[in-house]
Amino acid sequence: MPDTLSRTVPGPSPSPSTERPLPTAICSIAGLGHYLPERVLTNDELALTVDTSDEWIMERTGIRGRHCAAPEEATSDMAHRASLEALADAGVHPAELDLILLATSTPDTPVPSTACYLQTRLGCKRVPAMDIAAGCAGYGFALHMAAGAVKSGMHNTVLVVGADTLTRITNYADRQSCILFGDGAGAAVVRPGGRFDVLYSNIGSDGDGASMIRVRAGGSRTPASAESVASAGHTLEIHGREVFKAAVLQMTDCIRKAAAAVGVRPEDFDLIIPHQANARIIEAVGRQLDITDKRVVIDMIETGNTAAASIPVALGRARRRGLLHPGQLVATVGFGAGLAWACQILHIRN
Ligand code: UT7
Repeated sequence: MPDTLSRTVPGPSPSPSTERPLPTAICSIAGLGHYLPERVLTNDELALTVDTSDEWIMERTGIRGRHCAAPEEATSDMAHRASLEALADAGVHPAELDLILLATSTPDTPVPSTACYLQTRLGCKRVPAMDIAAGCAGYGFALHMAAGAVKSGMHNTVLVVGADTLTRITNYADRQSCILFGDGAGAAVVRPGGRFDVLYSNIGSDGDGASMIRVRAGGSRTPASAESVASAGHTLEIHGREVFKAAVLQMTDCIRKAAAAVGVRPEDFDLIIPHQANARIIEAVGRQLDITDKRVVIDMIETGNTAAASIPVALGRARRRGLLHPGQLVATVGFGAGLAWACQILHIRN
């Protein structure tokens, strides 16, 4: 597995927007922000307590380290940091928000919503705030709902956040899954007239795959008990190989459908940013689409799988690395527990 960060950065490329008419924007993203906790847990450190090695993890996943929240740090704390950055980037004051949608599978507490903790931290009292649970596709689901809310005119300025503290529900006795997860948060301010036009948005779910990625206990089916704790029922279980295959099929299909919907070919996207779960999944998606170069972004070497934060974190990091340029078409595609998936196409304004 190559060191994915050392790949050369693609420069601006001619956008299909100059050649073909693109659909009218549904809404736009005015600002982006993300946050990764300071502490990094490396593969070598993990290998001290788990029967694994840096070599295996790099080869099978493309992950070398993952950020881990500090003991006192919860999902809303990371969401707050990412949101402040997104608001500053957009030049929007928290008082201008009229809706907060926070995607997470690791809320601060089961009740109330983590979005409400975020709302009070931001000081925007009375703004409706709620959580969205769609696993690693959660940010895309929240963005989809925000796009509809803005397009309908019912809301004007929506804060969309994807934030997860997966290390809190990781079973470190399960070497297949514990190597994958990290913590983080990403945020976007959605309103009309921002820098990234959202041209297309689609979401989907398949509850038949519910048992493929799940936390068994702690809900109404199996309430918390001494037995549920002892049997690791509060940790994330993954059927790795099945999820791998489903992720490749679904994300490839999403990109093809999204391209067709806006009248371009998958190879016309300047960047495709898939959910960052495993570099081999992303490489397989690229092969299916016949795009085997850096346009298909792999950026989990330092972060691992940050669930709902994965796409806004990868988008923000792509911008910091100078990968985003005016005129580009960028496709994002998420996939995870539910099963659930979400795909958006962004056009970067000139
Ligand atoms: O957002 C969606 C969330 N989840 C995912 O996307 C996860 C998708 N799945 C995956 O990323 C991969 O399936 C995993 C990384 C979880 C596992 O990789 P794999 O290539 O599918 O490995 P495997 O489970 O088929 O295991 C292959 C071998 C097994 O040994 P044997 O039976 O061949 O002797 C495992 O016991 O590798 C062994 N193995 C490990 N060895 C060292 C499994 N995990 C480890 C490990 N270190 N951490």
